[in-house]
Amino acid sequence: MDKKFDPNLIRKEFPALCREVKEGVPLVYLDTTATSQKPKYVLDSLSHYYSYSNANVHRGIHTLAEEATAAYENARVSISNFINSPRSEQVIYTRNTTEAINLVANTWGRENFCRGDRVVMTEMEHHSNLVPWQMLAESIGMEIDIVPVDDRGLLDLMVYEKLLKKNPKAVCVTHMSNVLGTLNPIRSMADLAHEHGAVIIVDGAQSAPHMPIDVQELDVDFFAFSAHKMCGPTGIGVLYGRYELLSTMPPFLGGGDMIKRVELRRFDTNDLPYKFEAGTPAIGEAVGMGAAVEYLNEIGMENIWDHEQEIVAYAMDKLEEVPGVTIYGPEADKRGGVTAFTLDGVHPHDVSQILDADGIAVRAGHHCAMPLHTRYNLVATARASYYLYNTRKDIDKLIEGLYKVKKMFG
Ligand code: ALA
Repeated sequence: MDKKFDPNLIRKEFPALCREVKEGVPLVYLDTTATSQKPKYVLDSLSHYYSYSNANVHRGIHTLAEEATAAYENARVSISNFINSPRSEQVIYTRNTTEAINLVANTWGRENFCRGDRVVMTEMEHHSNLVPWQMLAESIGMEIDIVPVDDRGLLDLMVYEKLLKKNPKAVCVTHMSNVLGTLNPIRSMADLAHEHGAVIIVDGAQSAPHMPIDVQELDVDFFAFSAHKMCGPTGIGVLYGRYELLSTMPPFLGGGDMIKRVELRRFDTNDLPYKFEAGTPAIGEAVGMGAAVEYLNEIGMENIWDHEQEIVAYAMDKLEEVPGVTIYGPEADKRGGVTAFTLDGVHPHDVSQILDADGIAVRAGHHCAMPLHTRYNLVATARASYYLYNTRKDIDKLIEGLYKVKKMFG
């Protein structure tokens, strides 16, 4: 680990992490998988943009419009470099991961699927990589095949290979589960998908914030992620797509910016990436996403990943020592910084509420992955998740809190 990487110093750069939730009770933030906290660097960039350079993009020739356009486009270049996209035009701004996947389903999907065609999804998908395809399947009459999750929380890749033999048009898979933490072997899944002529659409919402991403090395066709889980603002995310696919896809939404020319009864679409960016975009938020990427690059994605690996291994050791705790998902070296668990005899919502009294923020519920919870015969889990700013001390407080919960419930 880089000697400069110090989570105790890093957390000082996040105002929320320095607050108390009530007098004398500091915040212990273990809910990054839902959304990350924001460093001052990103908050300042948002404030600076809105204070001094606020204008609409691509439309004006005055100074502020040019500054806003440059900031918006520079952020795209930073994000493109962050995922090693071959061209920045392949980085499409969306509202979030969900919108990015809906864009693919409603444009590429609608153009390419016919009645009876097949799509492969997995049992560990977030609703955002299930429901858009279910909606499309319902309207077109497509067949859905599912790769099951085994007892360890890994995808059954033998079943995956069998399903590919049915010649699906697309494979929709998460890079990292937001519940189990499972890291899926995307490169080998992409190779297999391509061997069978399928396109692979990857939900990178939980991986892009935590590890180096190289879309060329992963050889994926589409990759979606959100700024708010990676130190950036809400309301902005990205769809990366293979150039040949993006350039032949029809537009998603109609309106300003996505056109080259409009007549009363027809229009010509704009070039990439604007073809998919109708209307005034989330300019300040895109600038904030660019700042988030700069911030993460400065710290180093390898360092962040190494730190989280260390923290999640520590968390799993400590959680396993608490009687009555069950952790879902694979061993620490096969997952990212997420631990969903149950505590015997206590509803996850009660766990979360009692921990909150001590300032400990964990999420309870199905985490937008109902089918995965059903697979484990659960309706909910409590979930602690970790990021560059979490320390062993945060885990120790979680464990202390869990003993308190146990005591309250006898
Ligand atoms: N997808 C987010 C989560 O897992 C909201 O919590």
